[in-house]
Amino acid sequence: MRTPVGIVGAGPAGLFLSHLLHLHGIESVVLERRDRAYCERRQRAGVVEHGVAEALRATGLGERMDREGFVHEGIELRFDGRGHRVDFPALTGGRNVLIWAQTEIVKDLIARRLADGGQVLFEAEATAIEGAETERPRIRFTHGGAEEVLECDYVVACDGFHGIGRASLPAAVVRTFEKVYPFAWLGILADVAPSCDELIYAHSDRGFALHSMRSETVSRLYLQVPAGTDPAEWSDDRIWSELAARFALRDGGWTLGQGPITDKGITPMRSFVTEPMRHGRLFLAGDAAHIVPPTGAKGLNLAMRDVLLLAEGLRAWFAKGDAAGLDAYSATALRRVWRAEHFSYWMTTLLHLDPEGSEFDRRLQISHLEHIAACEPAAAALAENYTGLPAV
Ligand code: FAD
Ligand code: DHB
Repeated sequence: MRTPVGIVGAGPAGLFLSHLLHLHGIESVVLERRDRAYCERRQRAGVVEHGVAEALRATGLGERMDREGFVHEGIELRFDGRGHRVDFPALTGGRNVLIWAQTEIVKDLIARRLADGGQVLFEAEATAIEGAETERPRIRFTHGGAEEVLECDYVVACDGFHGIGRASLPAAVVRTFEKVYPFAWLGILADVAPSCDELIYAHSDRGFALHSMRSETVSRLYLQVPAGTDPAEWSDDRIWSELAARFALRDGGWTLGQGPITDKGITPMRSFVTEPMRHGRLFLAGDAAHIVPPTGAKGLNLAMRDVLLLAEGLRAWFAKGDAAGLDAYSATALRRVWRAEHFSYWMTTLLHLDPEGSEFDRRLQISHLEHIAACEPAAAALAENYTGLPAV
């Protein structure tokens, strides 16, 4: 089998890249080790930055998003038993975010790729990437019990944190940077109307909680739990009463609606960056290259931004033999990556209870949150980063 661009992974990065290349008249093959239903069901992110939503619209993927997603013009920071709204458009010159689940983006991308005659091979597991330093890199993969080889001009590993892409870069050329946090998120999906119109990021003495949503009848909620927590330790009743306690307002003027929990999962919290994001004709994009803790809602957005950049570089190369975009990809992507790494770290340490921290640390957090609530430039820094910086 042969293709100009071989893509490992049918997450948002791999699928969007394949779609963008198709729009530029460049063929690709996407290899995905899981089946289609699994990819479409996997619960993950829910916030789409302003600029990424615009890119989805500009490439023909905005219709259902604009019909069924929610435009959010702010978030609530809840701390010390009170809520404070951060108004995005007022602080950023008009930017907002969309609440539109990663599962829906993936469903639309798969449907669109297949409708456009794209090749997305499910249950096709890449086992090795070879020849990155040659003009004909190859992906070895297994599909339907057979061992196969995909010959490519370029290989893009969009295979997430646990894929083979990153490990295929020679150790001598790669540096990685990592921070692991001593807590995780327990995330639930529940059949209950959201108890808020905008997301609530809550700091409390009991730990962090986040109220998000998927539709008018489905809520998505997260609780800070110790790293290594087994979700079986958390009965539905325990989850609801802990959430209610963490979101409680001092004046008691708010109640959390409860409903049947339909999905429960743990997200470990980690910051991770690989440099460079390219070796020869092998490129890394999305979680394969970098991980952020989810507090700033940046993981999905970074993945989409990487491939927007890479698709442009590949377009210039295939159309005109111009390698400038490909040569600049790693350094350009890493500037945005590090900005998002800082913002995600900042949001995480601002809002979570550090199990090794002291009362001094907690007082600093409250002081910082009060500063954001009272001081417009401080709130603007949050809003600028959250809605997505247009150019970094
Ligand atoms: P992925 O979505 O991970 O896709 C990689 C794909 O590659 C997968 O489909 C995988 O099956 C496939 N693959 C892996 N190895 C191979 C192989 N050898 N051969 C073929 N295919 C392979 N971000 C937020 O902003 N908010 C959140 O709440 C949030 N929650 C998350 C929860 C979890 C459990 C995880 C893991 C991530 C979460 N994220 C969240 C991060 C966000 O979902 C990711 O940043 C986003 O999925 C990155 O997209 P991607 O396409 O780079 O990688
Ligand atoms: C969601 C996830 C996040 O990490 C976040 O910061 C906000 C919302 C969500 O899944 O809806």
